[in-house]
Amino acid sequence: MSATTHAQWSSRMGFVLAATGSAVGLGNIWKFPYMVGQSGGAAFVLVYLLCIALIGVPILVSEWMIGRRGQKNPINTMAQLARQHGHTRNWALVGIVGVLAAFLILSFYSVIGGWALAYMRDAATGTFSGLDKGGIGAIFDGFLASPAELLTWHSAFMLLTVVIVAMGVSAGLERGSKVMMLALILMVMVGYGMTTGAFGQAVAYLFNPDWSKLDGSVLLAALGHAFFTLSLGMGIMMAYGSYLGEDVNLLRAARTVVIMDTTFALCAGLAIFPIVFANGLDPASGPGLVFVTLPLAFGNMGGGLVLGSLFFLLLTFAALTSSISLLEPVVELLEERTPMNRVTATVVAGVTIWALGIAALLSFNLWSEVKLAGLNIFDLLDYVTSKFMLPLAGLGAIVFAAWKLEQASVKHELRLGDTGFALWTVLARYVAPLGVLYVFWNNI
Ligand code: TRP
Repeated sequence: MSATTHAQWSSRMGFVLAATGSAVGLGNIWKFPYMVGQSGGAAFVLVYLLCIALIGVPILVSEWMIGRRGQKNPINTMAQLARQHGHTRNWALVGIVGVLAAFLILSFYSVIGGWALAYMRDAATGTFSGLDKGGIGAIFDGFLASPAELLTWHSAFMLLTVVIVAMGVSAGLERGSKVMMLALILMVMVGYGMTTGAFGQAVAYLFNPDWSKLDGSVLLAALGHAFFTLSLGMGIMMAYGSYLGEDVNLLRAARTVVIMDTTFALCAGLAIFPIVFANGLDPASGPGLVFVTLPLAFGNMGGGLVLGSLFFLLLTFAALTSSISLLEPVVELLEERTPMNRVTATVVAGVTIWALGIAALLSFNLWSEVKLAGLNIFDLLDYVTSKFMLPLAGLGAIVFAAWKLEQASVKHELRLGDTGFALWTVLARYVAPLGVLYVFWNNI
């Protein structure tokens, strides 16, 4: 139980890279831009940024702090810390909701990871060369209409995830550095956006808010996505925190992770929306947005073949560093609570999640009419996790950290002076929890 018997990150940098690797993924490149489009642009973006700063950062730090104290998996950590501080074991529920969310998220995450893989092949074989928006759109629609294709790539992505996780933690987790190369390509694509003639329009769309577009559902979408993109509310950051040495400055680490994550999302927006507007595409077209816009550019620019293949390769890597962080807690739970060893646990978890993923991918074709409350299975999985489970579990984590932990030790741990700590207290005790509750209340 002591810090010395539990494995630790090889360096502060290793920890920050792993946390960044979990945070930066399909959420930034695939999900953020299409949510912006569906929510009508800048109003969503600005609320999202507010949620990241005022709610995301304090919760991220709270999860790390709890993890570092507990030194166990999220469920046991919450149970143990609660007991130590004289509270009910029911706090373990925070961890349980989190693991369940991870399970559900990975099922549809893997489907989109499969899209990235498939598009890597298409880009490399020159499929997009010279096509106009009709041609690119037809490729995407054809892909979605084929359950066999979707299943093949979903299976391939899940297999990769399972193999990496089965090989063990240390081999898999500290690979965040690959996402840096993805950043470079995104920059190039932002540069390309500047040549389209619609860059100004894209910037205005992303940053000049039309507040009439803001309603309760946009608020909830922005809040939910803040959790999703920072990998919050699922115990994964708690688990990462459990490997942390005392010497790491949590606020500084959080600043780095959050800046990187946000930069990726905004760059993805700045790369994608110029193409949307320059070609008269629909910003609100949904989950296919990145798969229709960027290939259009890759197919019609110099060096697009290489750049496109590299982009989807790196997107796959970024998705994998996130998907392993989603599978990890499920596997850990099985390992600890059942007689299964790591490999068996990984395979059992992987196959179950894979099967659920099939239901998700069928939402794009055969089962598109199977709906609950107006949502198909894919959308439902996303909705329930991002908009309810993650915020609720995150709320639990921050309420625990801000109200149940000894605050003197928190102040010491965060290395804050009196003013800084007062600010922290206001944020962590009131602003963040009430913010989450307000958004929920707004939706009822
Ligand atoms: N943050 C990742 C992304 O944006 C996805 C992810 C990984 C995640 N681990 C998570 C989301 C835990 C919620 C909880 O792609």
